[in-house]
Amino acid sequence: MASKAEELVGRVKDIPTLPSVVTQINRVLHDDGESLETVISIIEKDPPLTTKVLRLANSSYYGMSRDVRTVKEAVLILGLNAIQSIAMAVSVGKLFSGDLNGVLNMKDLWMHSLHCAVASKAMLRHMGTVVAEEGFICGLVHDIGKVIMVMNLPDEMKKVGRAFLEGDTRSWWEVEQEVIGFTHADVGGLIASRWNFPKPYCEAIEYHHWPEKGSGNGDSSKDRLAYSIFAGDALSRSLSENGTGEIQQPDPSSLQVLGIEPEALPDLLEKVGEDFQNVIATWDLE
Ligand SMILES: [Fe+2]
Ligand SMILES: [Fe+2]
Repeated sequence: MASKAEELVGRVKDIPTLPSVVTQINRVLHDDGESLETVISIIEKDPPLTTKVLRLANSSYYGMSRDVRTVKEAVLILGLNAIQSIAMAVSVGKLFSGDLNGVLNMKDLWMHSLHCAVASKAMLRHMGTVVAEEGFICGLVHDIGKVIMVMNLPDEMKKVGRAFLEGDTRSWWEVEQEVIGFTHADVGGLIASRWNFPKPYCEAIEYHHWPEKGSGNGDSSKDRLAYSIFAGDALSRSLSENGTGEIQQPDPSSLQVLGIEPEALPDLLEKVGEDFQNVIATWDLE
């Protein structure tokens, strides 16, 4: 029997589609018969994307010392994961618009998502993993379920938002669960699989509030991506403009899995703040 979240996703007619460049990159990355040349030519046919890719390749975020002039060079230097990040950021950012009657501001949610993306990537990079860019991609879309729910269940989401205006101290997802019967994380995981994202990405999005529930069966090394989004989500709340300025400590279990000593957090946060400003400035994302 389909869960309530599956029913919602099943009846939503206008599930946002990913641009073909993101889909094609997925196919190249997963060796699905697509060639790198195809990806390069898709980017070249999209002037705004070409501009952003070249700016990124020449930005300090990627620390390139040489002048990158062509899409091909950029793809070879940055790698397909990074190109996929920028294509995602450019396309997914457009979905975060509007304001749900003052209870959920989409621009704030987009800035939170970008912060989470930068923080998750920084933490994965800190531990020296080669999959750091995956943290960026999943961070960008970890709360996409909220966008879908605001579009399709506005009254219920207003009720959730109002609970917070009235001082509810529970987590947003707990109130969603009570009011709606499922959470934005359930919906996000389903959207990610509709987008044919790899399984670890779908799980990281589905379990971003409960990383211990991933399929790693307690082997946290298998669920690092989910833990990085869980911790990135907490850190991004410390960094957002609406935040109190206090460091919102990620759950100690996530820091342990990611190999981050609590003493290293202030420096890491400073770096994340710089990276965030860099990304915003380079990509004109605001
Ligand atoms: Fe969330
Ligand atoms: Fe979040």
